[in-house]
Amino acid sequence: MSFITTLTILPGQPLPAVAEALRAALGSAKVVYLRGLAAHVPAGDWAAFYDELTEVTGQCLHLDEDYAQGSIRSGQKWIEVRYDAAIPDDAAYRFSKNAQPLHTDESYLSEPAEVMFMHCLVQAPEGGETTFVDADVLWQQLQAKSPDLATRLLNRPVRFAKAGDSRTLPIIADTPAGLRLNWNYHCVDPAESAEAHALAAEFRQFLLEHISNTPAEVALPLAPSEAVAWWDDQVLHGRRAFRAVATNDRFLLKSGFRLSTADV
Ligand SMILES: [Fe+2]
Repeated sequence: MSFITTLTILPGQPLPAVAEALRAALGSAKVVYLRGLAAHVPAGDWAAFYDELTEVTGQCLHLDEDYAQGSIRSGQKWIEVRYDAAIPDDAAYRFSKNAQPLHTDESYLSEPAEVMFMHCLVQAPEGGETTFVDADVLWQQLQAKSPDLATRLLNRPVRFAKAGDSRTLPIIADTPAGLRLNWNYHCVDPAESAEAHALAAEFRQFLLEHISNTPAEVALPLAPSEAVAWWDDQVLHGRRAFRAVATNDRFLLKSGFRLSTADV
């Protein structure tokens, strides 16, 4: 699998053909950057286009969480990732303009989507890039800079939990299909052992010191109409801080779908 590939949506390209191209791209790359929609589809139709594209591409899950009700699942397909001036920046990354540390989205989900899909409606006036780190590059850096931590992380199960759901997987797993990641510092189950929490704190510090804002972290500045799809457990992703004043100065929609390997 390559790290990132770009898929240009062509004028007049039928939606099933775009879906086929997206499936093919996800068969050979961990991250697919979709561009070109704005050239031939009006802004008011972008959300409907991507809603249908994801339905045709894979098996969509309804992953939205109701922030106002303890992050219980709302049943909605699309998760709003947008700046909200009424919510304190430290309360929830989803509504803040702060940088978001590297993570995977599905660390605590017992029934994961596998592929995450996010498209941009409103780009921040400055900053707000979505960033990605290849699991293989992360592993190389760990082995080079902190081999002892690498050894302790590999294949060591850690329980992640949030809003009544949970999953127990290694932060870095060596599987027959390749390295797989499961990570969100903020979702390590409070009931986990002191050793697991110490390991998580050490890994968080490693990411801050050796991965974030280095060439290992690739930033995609999603412009309005652009989208990105990624295998959640084959990369870490995060977000750069951005400038925003009014609510919805940055607005993206995110969902996820299953794509069995037989389809790609
Ligand atoms: Fe995320």
